[in-house]
Amino acid sequence: MKKSFYVTTPIYYVNDKPHIGHAYTTLLADVLARYHRLLGDPTLFLTGTDEHGQKVQRAADRAGVTPQEQADTTVVRFQELWKKLGITHDDFIRTTEPRHARVVQRILQDLYDRDEIYRSEYDGWYCVPCERFFMEKDLRENTCPECGRAVEHITESNYFFRMGKYQDWLVRYIQEHPTFIQPDFRRNETLGFLRRGLNDLCISRPKTRLAWGIELPFDSDYVTYVWFDALVNYISAIGYLADDARFRQWWPATYHLIGKDILTTHTVYWPTMLKAMGVAMPETVFAHGWWLVEESKMSKSLGNVVNPMEMADRYGVDAFRYFLMAEMTLGQDANFSEESFVRRYNTYLANDLGNLLSRVMKLVASHCGGRVPAPGQPGPDEEHLRDATLAASAAMEKAVNDMRLDVGLAEVAGAVREANRYLERRQPWTLAKQADAGPLGTVLYSAAESLRIVSGLLYPTMPAKMTALRQTLGLSQTKPDMAELKAWGKLPPGTAVGEMTALFPRVKLEREPETKQTRKEPEMEGVVEFSDFKKLDLRTARVLAADKVEGADKLLRLQVEIGGETRQIVAGIARHYSPEQMAGRTIVVVVNLKPAKIRGVESNGMLLAAVAGEDMLRLVTIDGDIPSGTRVQ
Ligand code: ME8
Ligand code: MG
Repeated sequence: MKKSFYVTTPIYYVNDKPHIGHAYTTLLADVLARYHRLLGDPTLFLTGTDEHGQKVQRAADRAGVTPQEQADTTVVRFQELWKKLGITHDDFIRTTEPRHARVVQRILQDLYDRDEIYRSEYDGWYCVPCERFFMEKDLRENTCPECGRAVEHITESNYFFRMGKYQDWLVRYIQEHPTFIQPDFRRNETLGFLRRGLNDLCISRPKTRLAWGIELPFDSDYVTYVWFDALVNYISAIGYLADDARFRQWWPATYHLIGKDILTTHTVYWPTMLKAMGVAMPETVFAHGWWLVEESKMSKSLGNVVNPMEMADRYGVDAFRYFLMAEMTLGQDANFSEESFVRRYNTYLANDLGNLLSRVMKLVASHCGGRVPAPGQPGPDEEHLRDATLAASAAMEKAVNDMRLDVGLAEVAGAVREANRYLERRQPWTLAKQADAGPLGTVLYSAAESLRIVSGLLYPTMPAKMTALRQTLGLSQTKPDMAELKAWGKLPPGTAVGEMTALFPRVKLEREPETKQTRKEPEMEGVVEFSDFKKLDLRTARVLAADKVEGADKLLRLQVEIGGETRQIVAGIARHYSPEQMAGRTIVVVVNLKPAKIRGVESNGMLLAAVAGEDMLRLVTIDGDIPSGTRVQ
């Protein structure tokens, strides 16, 4: 039987309307879910809304409505956005639904009965934006250690979950299950948090201070803490304590996708709760980075919140989906700007992909009677195009498994560029003037075949546009068959092609960027596009150890840590740095360089240094403290 794929997003607070951060996590889950459905894996994609707690209560107070009314109006904005963006979630859970609240109460009662929950006095601090409790010692300069905002002092009698006793177990679990927290450097963050000591968790609020929550089944003067309620959605939605067969079919979740802001709740509170309940751990909690705007956090007060509805309206849903997936290096922060959106759109979608399609289709229409021609014997150019296309297909498969969709999409973009280069080399428009139709047929067939595969690879990201592209190619199946994306020559010659449409008309930036002048740069020799520069993945790396390579007096072999991953790099720096000088330094490494063997030693990446002839070499290092694996750009 095929392994089932269960993917979740955070359930979003209904205190405010959705922005691109929410859209991103949900889109990522959608692309993964669509991909797995195409593979034929039983797939469940869950999203929803987190409707209790102080944040929602306060938003309701400000709006002069009840919290339930606040939830009922805001949930619609999420649901409408998901509809607009083509999100294919299988279920949408709201924490105010009885199917959820019932399960939360049963869990609470059970934990209370087994003394996993006890009553005690609480004297501490609360951060409303994070909905988190903190001890005095945990505060940073009297503010929330997570978000830096003001905290409120609370002294009251409350109920506590015995989380602290699971500290050692959790540390061991995390260490023994390296895929549990991803990317690797986030695992180190959680381990760092755990090393500072783990307290019991306050899990109640007296109704006299906050009534908007799920009532404790053993004390009706209290409601439960919003995170103790919210996290349970991942299991209440799939039948925990209600439908065993269904629960067993889907649990453990394959991925909990989250933003880095809620790492602690998902990798400390949630696993200890599950452990106390006797439920298996989810396979992977994957935390992605932040979308920033002009390098700073989006916030209402800065007025820089990007509205996903507006972007989709302006540039099209699929272009927006593509941009978000391609632009963010999974795990790292990314910067959102309309300028880079337009640049990426025009380069990859309008120019490269759109052009390829229209070049091929025009010639098929005018010279082949609107039918895919039969190919002749492939020559080296055809073989090269086939290899490049199939390599992109393999890369996409790997990228999905490694949670590096951005890398997969970049590989596909590379294959499209290859196909355009192929046309330029083979000049079908000149071949079209020859009497012999053979060579033209070969070229058009090969380019169309490469489009068939590309359209399948991009389908989960741009379902509507790729459906249109596939119809244009005359493919009877608009949904790709994944196996056919790994094989060349599946497009049947003689297929009648469909109507040609402009898939990605070029766009202009609607509002000129305010800070930068737009002047036309003269064409310069040797100048590269920013998009070319972006292909180099430069990262900070911490040197763990170094030693000399025997028989090569210029070489050092370095073991470096790059965001939790350890790599070996060989560098010609032995005359300038000793192994001892290297250990502990933070350097800059090109991480996406093809691995090579240098004097028989595997080198996986290249470090940067300033070099002046044989005698002078100085390493590029980092000014100040920053985690390894940080992007250098
Ligand atoms: O935390 N960049 O809900 P929330 C990227 N209800 N992603 C972002 C983002 C940004 N700038 N801003 C938000 C909650 N997100 C809880 C979750 S789960 C049991 C309960 C995304 O409405 C990202 O996924 O504050 C982040 O984790 C989530 O929205 C937080 O949404
Ligand atoms: Mg938040």
